[in-house]
Amino acid sequence: MTAHFTLQQIDDVAKAVQARTSRRPRVSIILGSGLNDLAGSVQNPDLIPFGDLPNFPVSTVFGHSGRLVIGELEGRSVFVMQGRIHFYEGYTMAQVTLPIRVMQRLGIETLIVTNAAGGVNPDFLPGDVMLITDNLNLMGMTGHNPLMGPNYDEIGPRFPDMSQPYDRALNDIARNVAKKEKLILREGTYAGLSGPSFEGPADLRFLRLAGADSVGMSTVPEVLVARHGGMRVLGFSGISNKANLDGSTVTTHEEVIEAGKIITPKMETLIRGVLRQL
Ligand code: HPA
Repeated sequence: MTAHFTLQQIDDVAKAVQARTSRRPRVSIILGSGLNDLAGSVQNPDLIPFGDLPNFPVSTVFGHSGRLVIGELEGRSVFVMQGRIHFYEGYTMAQVTLPIRVMQRLGIETLIVTNAAGGVNPDFLPGDVMLITDNLNLMGMTGHNPLMGPNYDEIGPRFPDMSQPYDRALNDIARNVAKKEKLILREGTYAGLSGPSFEGPADLRFLRLAGADSVGMSTVPEVLVARHGGMRVLGFSGISNKANLDGSTVTTHEEVIEAGKIITPKMETLIRGVLRQL
């Protein structure tokens, strides 16, 4: 188990990436569960399986391909993670967030994160897309903050500010794109839990009381590390199921993947529109 990586180890991954692509993207995109097909729209991609990179964790979850797709979208170079690493797979927080550190060392300034999530807000329907305007760092509150351990002073401060985890200017761009494309874009707070079990009814009632609109098993650690290094972050939840606050329905990974098929084209429209305005 790797508790943390040295800057040298992070730079070794960055060098391995640079040896496989001549592109120098400034924007990265992480694709969530069921949303991996979006990477198929990236043109002239250099493909790098996670397993080819030193120390890089390998995604073990169905619906996550596990490779970097570095190519062009809307005329911009993009660094796409087709598949992400989750804490529930047994990886450490350092491993889960190693890709973000590598992005920072590669000079990537903007991160677009996507995830599949349960809709805790009762107004949300499966297939909706939610702009993440804030998050509940429940993993951090229970002692799993990826910034614990030695601080990389070269990258960011020991006690980083989190007053604006999601960038307001990018949020405005996303809202404008949604309006122009006539897409309904929900907004709200994403609660990040470790998983892998879905939440029980009492968990969900607690999350709703705490102000959560969507709930999932990722994203928050990545955003903390991205913000620590000064990246601007834009986040979208794809609502794959209604959270089951009274225990009357069952949630499955299959329905998460299925909903992804409806959500992927909406996400693609939003992301393409945002890229055009960056
Ligand atoms: N809970 C947690 N994670 C999820 C859910 C959910 O209901 N749906 C998709 N990812």
